[in-house]
Amino acid sequence: AVTRTFSIIKPDATRRNLTGAVTKMLEEAGLRVVASKRIRMTKEQAEGFYGVHRERPFFNDLVTFMMSGPVVVQVLEGEDAVKRNRDVMGATNPANAEPGTIRKELAESIEANSVHGSDSDENAATEIAFFFKPEEIVG
Ligand code: CMP
Repeated sequence: AVTRTFSIIKPDATRRNLTGAVTKMLEEAGLRVVASKRIRMTKEQAEGFYGVHRERPFFNDLVTFMMSGPVVVQVLEGEDAVKRNRDVMGATNPANAEPGTIRKELAESIEANSVHGSDSDENAATEIAFFFKPEEIVG
């Protein structure tokens, strides 16, 4: 089925002017950008978005990193969008990611890993609603 997922192009990628390169790989994987905006995350947004990781040792560094530069938040649409996006992103740690994936080709480290993508349809809906109003999404 055609579904939607939520993506973030992270500060390490925007800093290196890779917004287009990342988006091209998403599009070539069969995903369509149906909403997109470049923002600077507030502390409240970064902490709220990654709330499930609050007890993890990397939480504070992750929040600081996500506020360290612009990010591009996007809604992606395609056949099995969550899986399609996760496949093209590659493993969280770029050292473990397959060749040809965004993280293998572009990411710097497990933290500065260039992209975020939702891990389930349910989380995709929650994450999309965190950053976008329905009328901002144009399918
Ligand atoms: P993301 O998919 O956005 O979800 C949580 C993020 O935490 C992850 O990508 C990484 O950028 C970051 N992170 C930093 N350290 C770790 C770690 N040890 N394990 C998992 N995620 C980590």
